[in-house]
Amino acid sequence: MATDFTEETAADAVVESFAPSTDARLREILTSLVRHLHGFAREVELTIPEWESAIDFLTRTGQKCDDKRQEFILLSDVLGLSMLTETISNRKFGVATESTVLGPFHVVESPVRALGDSIDHVGTGEPCVVTGRVVSVSGTPLPGATLDVWQANDEGFYDVQQPGVQEIGNGRGLFTADDRGEFWFRTVVPRYYPIPTDGPVGELLRATGRHSFRPAHIHFIVSAPGHRDLTTHIFVAGSEYIESDTVFAVKKSLVADFAQVDDPALAERWGVPAPFRHADFTITLQPES
Ligand code: BEZ
Ligand code: FE
Repeated sequence: MATDFTEETAADAVVESFAPSTDARLREILTSLVRHLHGFAREVELTIPEWESAIDFLTRTGQKCDDKRQEFILLSDVLGLSMLTETISNRKFGVATESTVLGPFHVVESPVRALGDSIDHVGTGEPCVVTGRVVSVSGTPLPGATLDVWQANDEGFYDVQQPGVQEIGNGRGLFTADDRGEFWFRTVVPRYYPIPTDGPVGELLRATGRHSFRPAHIHFIVSAPGHRDLTTHIFVAGSEYIESDTVFAVKKSLVADFAQVDDPALAERWGVPAPFRHADFTITLQPES
């Protein structure tokens, strides 16, 4: 005899439909997903037009994706799911530098640059020197660590968003730390910027009265032998939107002072005009377990 479908038994019926041979982790994830999804639909008493509207939204989210645009990741970002997943994955790493989202602009290879080079070839914006060191959780320096760096310019645009204005590779650099694990490069202070809003994610932000901005930041992927790769940002202290990042990616430990330096001797040493801004920070990597 067929099982009677009721609001109360629906989730159990779906969970029980999974074959015993189902991979254990897949079963765990799908069981929880189905129970939460059903619980959510019951809690809000989801109507058929609302269900249709959700299907239409997700369909258009998929249609907006191509090899350069990932609207589903953007959706996950503005719903806080990307950062929650990042945070869960890295919560056991104690003193290691915290991670944050990769974002959609790591799409071209960063040019290999020498320590001290400038990643900015446009020349507008406030000059800035970034210095730091890469160490292991024990404090031991990690000579030869690589730092893949990318950032928006002083108007809040990445190179790939401004063909003809910025050359590809502007705002990007692949650096190798010296034999003391230290790194330094020149750039301009990046500006805050909006995430893309011409798709379904933009609709969602408008419908919920949210802005689309991310505070000013510089992206890093830092790697060293025997250590876990770290994907993170350094945020510019005091930037607009530092308290309300639309993708929830700010962690207090990642906010750095970009202090103004007026000293002409220091400017000459770094090869930048005075005044300039200087950020210095330590990146601590977790050994591979
Ligand atoms: C970014 O920082 O590049 C970014 C991160 C998440 C969504 C959009 C942009
Ligand atoms: Fe970014």
